Amino acid sequence: MKISYPPRLNLAHTPTPLDLLPRLSKKLGIDLYIKRDDLTGAELTGNKVRKLEFVFADALAKGADTVLTCGAAQSNHCRATAVGAARLGLRCRLLLRTADLSNPPFPEGNLFLDRLMGAEIVWITPEEYRRRNEIFEREAATLRKQGRKPYVVPEGASNPLGAWGYIRAAEELAQDLSNLPGGKDRPTTIVHATGSGGTTAGLILGVRLCGINARVVGFNVCDDRDHFLRVIGEICESAIATYHLPLSFVRERDIEIVDGYVGRGYALSRPEELALLSEVARTEGIILEPVYTGKAFFGMIQELSRDPRTFGERIVFIHTGGIFGLLPRVQEIVPFLSND
Ligand SMILES: Cc1ncc(COP(=O)(O)O)c(C=O)c1O
Repeated sequence: MKISYPPRLNLAHTPTPLDLLPRLSKKLGIDLYIKRDDLTGAELTGNKVRKLEFVFADALAKGADTVLTCGAAQSNHCRATAVGAARLGLRCRLLLRTADLSNPPFPEGNLFLDRLMGAEIVWITPEEYRRRNEIFEREAATLRKQGRKPYVVPEGASNPLGAWGYIRAAEELAQDLSNLPGGKDRPTTIVHATGSGGTTAGLILGVRLCGINARVVGFNVCDDRDHFLRVIGEICESAIATYHLPLSFVRERDIEIVDGYVGRGYALSRPEELALLSEVARTEGIILEPVYTGKAFFGMIQELSRDPRTFGERIVFIHTGGIFGLLPRVQEIVPFLSND
């Protein structure tokens, strides 16, 4: 089916490779592939850049000169937005969450890159973050008064427009899978981390539009399954209505979220998660990070240890990037490095 995309800028290096993880595949007795969306770029690495290609195109079409978005202090999305804005000659204002406004985090990892890219940082409390739409309004009004033209990008660029990034990734995957043994008709499970829902929504829509024989399974790294059924359901329903996609969609049936692996909480790690991150690096030369990909991968391995066939015989794990979030966590990870 020919998919008709909204306008898009070329920011991501795509198509990204789909690679077999040979040693883990052997150990698990399945074919485990990894879609290297951590290779969408260097500073623009990860899943966000796929979404931002569509979102920035819209911002430019609307004559914006400043993009405004929000996230955690180590947000990959905010960093990708800051880099994208600098590439396009736009200004960027980030609403970043911190528990202590009087002592904001040291600029390292993603936050360092935000600053390097010249983003304007506004620190807000977790309570204000929950009211972020109000704060977006306040900041946008301030910018307008200064004669600037703000464009608000929601958390994680997870809206129907951003979801096109992963519809396009699914189209790429259809091509990747057709080159593998069994082709794209061999049952496949696409596993990934769910943080704000846009990646999962895009994959669900994209897999259906491209006719891939695949389950889309998200491991939530924050909140819970009910939250994501609502958020992802709204993105999918709104995308289907806005872009007249020829799909029917039922929240409870079409969204698969595996809950139970948030662990100690968003961006907090357990020793076993860090040990696995270190094992994946040693055995396959792949760098996961503790907040998203490390947690989802850990959840996937735990589910497979309970039932090796729970995701069928072919899995594609989407590596959604996030390497800069690893750097501020080095001290915590060092005890799990091993030369055994
Ligand atoms: C590295 C990484 N992986 C996965 C996700 C989750 O993607 P989404 O926000 O689209 O659910 C994010 C952001 O939240 C991320 O930064």
